[in-house]
Amino acid sequence: MTVGHYGQPSFCVNDLMLEAKKIILGVTGSIAAYKAAFLVRLLVKAGAEVRVLMTPAAAQFISPLTLSTLSKNQVHTAVSAEDSWNNHVEMGLWADAMVIAPVTATTLAKMANGICDNIIVATYLSARCPVFFAPAMDLDMWQHPATRENVRRLQTYGNHLIPVEHGELASGLVGNGRMAEPETIVHHLDQFFQASTLLAGKKVLITAGPTFEPIDPVRFVGNRSSGRMGIALAEQAKARGAEVVLILGPTHLRPSSPGIQTISVQTATEMAAAAKQHFPKSAVAILAAAVADYRPGEVAKEKIKKKKDTFTLELIKNPDIAATLGQQKKENQLLIGFALETQEEETNAKGKMVKKNFDFIVLNSLRDEGAGFNLLTNKISIIHRDNKIKKYELKSKEAVAGDILDEIEQLLSKH
Ligand code: CTP
Repeated sequence: MTVGHYGQPSFCVNDLMLEAKKIILGVTGSIAAYKAAFLVRLLVKAGAEVRVLMTPAAAQFISPLTLSTLSKNQVHTAVSAEDSWNNHVEMGLWADAMVIAPVTATTLAKMANGICDNIIVATYLSARCPVFFAPAMDLDMWQHPATRENVRRLQTYGNHLIPVEHGELASGLVGNGRMAEPETIVHHLDQFFQASTLLAGKKVLITAGPTFEPIDPVRFVGNRSSGRMGIALAEQAKARGAEVVLILGPTHLRPSSPGIQTISVQTATEMAAAAKQHFPKSAVAILAAAVADYRPGEVAKEKIKKKKDTFTLELIKNPDIAATLGQQKKENQLLIGFALETQEEETNAKGKMVKKNFDFIVLNSLRDEGAGFNLLTNKISIIHRDNKIKKYELKSKEAVAGDILDEIEQLLSKH
């Protein structure tokens, strides 16, 4: 059976790595709970054994009978002492993976703080297997600092976020907050089980953020990059088992996963030195940084005083990190670049890919609404060496990072 719609991943369920995998699905009280039926069906078709847990609130949105019929197993909505399958400790030990989808803002907060008042949080706290969580909520709830902090904390505990999607929400508002489609959730699980052979243990080098080139002790030449795209790539690569080195230009953002080696730099020269040092042992390098092309030829030691009506600054060319790594690249290494263009996008991107010896290039156009600097979303195309172009929908930067890493894993599988 091949599945996939609305721009979601399409795959044949028989080809997934989910055969005989034991999966606990926790369903909490959101309108997105209806999608749990499709999710259970896909998992069962892929050969997984699924046990469903629900909060009482979830049972108001979708009947336990539906999920028990589809999973061919009893559904539990409360912790009870009688039957061993109600034993959350045993359940946590049985599973190869636990997925909580949809997870509401309330359950997120409970998981982040260890508030154990339902069977899902009790099982989550007992689980030794990887845990995936797919939030669903309205856009303001999703953006609230409390939710952001709870998500960050859950990720720092090693749980895997299945990013929310952009679209129309139950409230009628449009934005980030929709639960990922069941196909996407299945795809994440499949990628996770596959990753044990693809990115796991491989060194992945990522450059991210802007560079600031000093003019004097208080001023610099820079750009508006936030580093969000590169940080999302680092988080996703780490979640897939890679050993990640992130070379990060000046930005207030930081990765939340522990274990990402982050090297903070200010200038292109510093970024180039760190990249050259780490590239030889890297299997993959992704160059997401918006490197300043030029820097002031001379940096004034003291603050420059306002004297004349005009001021001329002489700039000199910075090292091209991508081109340098492209020249050094060995057969068994992959080099991925970005191009942010405003005109003749595909032609310019293809030219950069060839000139810098990238294995593929990720193109975003500033002409696309929702793509570019300092936004939470991005809209990309991936251009390959054989000129094949894959175009993607507007998505959260986390989801875009997942797409880029899927493409890298595809190439690794052919290497
Ligand atoms: N890049 C880099 N070092 C530089 C400039 C760019 O590593 N000094 C990388 C970027 O991280 C990106 C790719 O090269 O992956 C393309 O960057 P871009 O700024 O679009 O390319 P440029 O060669 O600077 O071309 P342009 O003339 O459009 O600025």
